[in-house]
Amino acid sequence: MPQVYLASSTAPVNIAVVKYWGKRDPVLNLPTNSSLSVTLSQEDLRAFTSVACSQDFPEDRMWLNGEERHVPADKRLVACLKALRALRQQVEDKDTSAPTLSRMCIQIASENNFPTAAGLASSAAGFAALVRAIADLYQLPQSAAELSRIARQGSGSACRSLFGGYVAWQMGSQDDGSDSMAVQVAPQEAWPQMRACILVASAQKKDVSSTAGMQHTVATSTLFAERVRQTVPDRMQAMTSAIEARDFAKFAEITMRDSNSFHAVCLDTYPPIFYMNDISRACVRLVEQMNAAAGATIAAYTYDAGPNTVVYYLEENEAKVLAYVKAAVSQGTQGMDSPQFSEVTPASDVQEA
Ligand code: DP6
Repeated sequence: MPQVYLASSTAPVNIAVVKYWGKRDPVLNLPTNSSLSVTLSQEDLRAFTSVACSQDFPEDRMWLNGEERHVPADKRLVACLKALRALRQQVEDKDTSAPTLSRMCIQIASENNFPTAAGLASSAAGFAALVRAIADLYQLPQSAAELSRIARQGSGSACRSLFGGYVAWQMGSQDDGSDSMAVQVAPQEAWPQMRACILVASAQKKDVSSTAGMQHTVATSTLFAERVRQTVPDRMQAMTSAIEARDFAKFAEITMRDSNSFHAVCLDTYPPIFYMNDISRACVRLVEQMNAAAGATIAAYTYDAGPNTVVYYLEENEAKVLAYVKAAVSQGTQGMDSPQFSEVTPASDVQEA
């Protein structure tokens, strides 16, 4: 009876504080700008992926949250599988006694513990967990940074979920994408007081996918060129310095400005893309009120391709920030439907190869 080879892995969600938005090469998934994120704790939001291969499997198959996806139709998944099999082939070429897993079909089951495609970075955690699980199954010697090049082809933001702490995706300059990968800017332990909470305004699937949205922005927004030329490169440097100096006021200002800038280029896309809604805007005001009342910047908001608010703050201000958030949630934010609230913490618990 042919043997079945198995492996499982988890990967956490990351939330960008300098946003990735725009592709210079949609096939290799190369970005128009570098980006930087904080990886959240696996306790809170994560993808869990199990993979198996066997000579008995007649075809590649994949289930996402229990629903089967047609593998050949998913070009990004196919690209990841191809790249991982090529690396396994190198292992088998070196060690001729190693089982020929690269030639076996694979079965993949992935689950998120949060809504898929609701602007909660589900593809980031999903592809990171998938690449990590297959790399473990194939016993690949590659580092997390090297594997991030493969995860990037699944979903750009996924490359950053292979690391814990504070992570940059360096856009790179090579046409083949060989230098477009994630690196850790600082481990979580370098600034362990960072906390985050999420105000979920909607857990529904977003109207415009990130992939389609950013392609339209690149093609039609005039504001976008300036963002990519100067704004983001300057912010990458300033954000790295803020993290190294543990300067929350600076971290928060750049985070909020970059979220605003990203949503501004969405609005400057023609026709415009709206990811934030009235609840999101009320949450922006809430964070501004909190900071004004504290007389200091104690909280920062950021929005991805959806209406949900991620609020970053420091442990020392947790009581103040959560009191504000909980009051707003229970009263309804400025008369609007209440968002759901959940607390999450940034994490270090990502295995690094
Ligand atoms: C707004 O990584 O989902 O969350 O590469 O097309 O899969 P694809 O896009 P994706 O885009 C994420 C965009 C963002 C900002 C960010 O995470 O940096």
